[in-house]
Amino acid sequence: MEKTFLMVKPDGVQRGLVAEIMGRFERRGFQLVAAKLLQVSQEQAERHYEEHHGKPFYDNLIKFITSGPVFAMVWEGDDIITLSRTMIGKTNAAEAQPGTIRGDFAASTRLNLIHGSDSPESAEREIANYFSPDELVVYTKTI
Ligand code: CMP
Repeated sequence: MEKTFLMVKPDGVQRGLVAEIMGRFERRGFQLVAAKLLQVSQEQAERHYEEHHGKPFYDNLIKFITSGPVFAMVWEGDDIITLSRTMIGKTNAAEAQPGTIRGDFAASTRLNLIHGSDSPESAEREIANYFSPDELVVYTKTI
């Protein structure tokens, strides 16, 4: 079963969209493995966005993601990395389709509400950046 790292960014937390966003993944049938509200440290932010280091928007990205609490989650499901990115919608606000999280709630490429891992390698790295192994609760559905 595939796992992914999803994070409601400071704009999503402050706009009160955590439950709305979690609900979409629950209703789609994915399984919650871990979740917590946390303040991203400078070091965690730099590790999280290392692939964007040197880009024009990098400094603002670090400032934004450390500007307030985020809601970090691990979810599990078949093909969840691809499916969750479809549910999240395009990074560019102008291209995010209605029906996606960004298309329904975000009008800004910078304040785009949620991050989702883009590959199994990123998911593994990102999960380890925010969660210790004993925080992941893996279980089999009984009902
Ligand atoms: P995300 O896909 O979670 O990770 C990279 C982030 O960089 C992206 O969300 C946006 O928030 C941000 N980003 C990407 N392109 C731009 C841009 N041109 N200007 C500002 N922020 C950007």
